[in-house]
Amino acid sequence: MDTLILKIDTPKGNESKIEAAAKIIKSGGLVAFPTETVYGLGADAYNSESIKNIYKAKGRPSDNPLILHISNFDMMNDLCDYLPENAKILMDTFMPGPITIIVPKSDKVPDVVTAGLKTVAVRFPSDKVASSLIEAANVPIAAPSANLSGKPSPTTFRHVFDDLNGRVDCIIEGCDCECGVESTVVDATGDVPVILRPGIITPADIKEVIPSVIVDKNVLEAVSIDETPKCPGMKYKHYSPDADVYVVEGDSKSVKKEIDRLISENSDKTIGVMTCSDNTYEAEILINVGSTFDKYAHSLYTSLRKFDELGADIVFAEFSEGEGAALAVKNRLYKSAGHKVIHV
Ligand code: TXA
Ligand code: MG
Repeated sequence: MDTLILKIDTPKGNESKIEAAAKIIKSGGLVAFPTETVYGLGADAYNSESIKNIYKAKGRPSDNPLILHISNFDMMNDLCDYLPENAKILMDTFMPGPITIIVPKSDKVPDVVTAGLKTVAVRFPSDKVASSLIEAANVPIAAPSANLSGKPSPTTFRHVFDDLNGRVDCIIEGCDCECGVESTVVDATGDVPVILRPGIITPADIKEVIPSVIVDKNVLEAVSIDETPKCPGMKYKHYSPDADVYVVEGDSKSVKKEIDRLISENSDKTIGVMTCSDNTYEAEILINVGSTFDKYAHSLYTSLRKFDELGADIVFAEFSEGEGAALAVKNRLYKSAGHKVIHV
């Protein structure tokens, strides 16, 4: 299939291109578009056939439900049966923004979207290109991250193009994504909100408006074979480059010592090191993701893809505990490493 590329870095002056992309959505096609977190692969949320095509284009298992993207709160009313109190607070405080809220699903939402669950995930992106597209389509847009299933999520147009050109109807060539990791997913159906996937909006941010918050255990622990996780996506291998990733976690000095040892032990391999400190290494490929967790989050997926491009066999990723986006970074690192974590 020929993929139409539409360059839209801002909605202003690009109204006719936004209209063209919205028309593709309305006629049942697939459009990849930028958001403030990562690029999404969108289809009309009410069109079951189009939703099935999302799963096909990504090679995504059909038991992993999708997030519905809205551009105004009226759209929310059509998607959920009723709004739990916590959902209202989270919407008022954090939407539009990098958060996804799980609420009870209405009958209007096709079962293919939620993979048969009685709940639905809803997100109101703050990115202007994303919200203009949804507004022009005038329907909620179902969209997973616009990567091939299992690959790191795309944070630039180039990543989407590499994964999906020829597999989807249209890709919007927008700006690089600001956050770099996917939205915080919060189950708001119970008395206490549960964070199913950490993101740039942190447990501490949520605690400012709702006193108690739980972080689901599968955020950091691997899902065992006989377990059904609350967030179906958790059981799949995720965010993985082709290289074999190891997380080396501890204080910066001990991490340096251990990675030096690992480099000399693996001298027959092409080694990449992802550093978030001043440490330097004798590795073929060295990528510094910056000294704050926001910067680490922003560059994480780009860096993982870069290691593959440069032919790394093995990647050692530095990690030291911290605040803010630290939990989001740790969760993605653990998953991309298949939970191979060396504590020093
Ligand atoms: O930032 C984001 O959230 C991006 C952009 C495009 O908006 N989207 C994204 O979608 O990351 P995706 O499909 O790659 O991840 C959605 C996650 C999956 O792990 C899925 O299992 C979970 O949300 N999810 C969706 N619906 C759910 C539900 N009803 N209950 C629990 N988890 C759900
Ligand atoms: Mg994804």
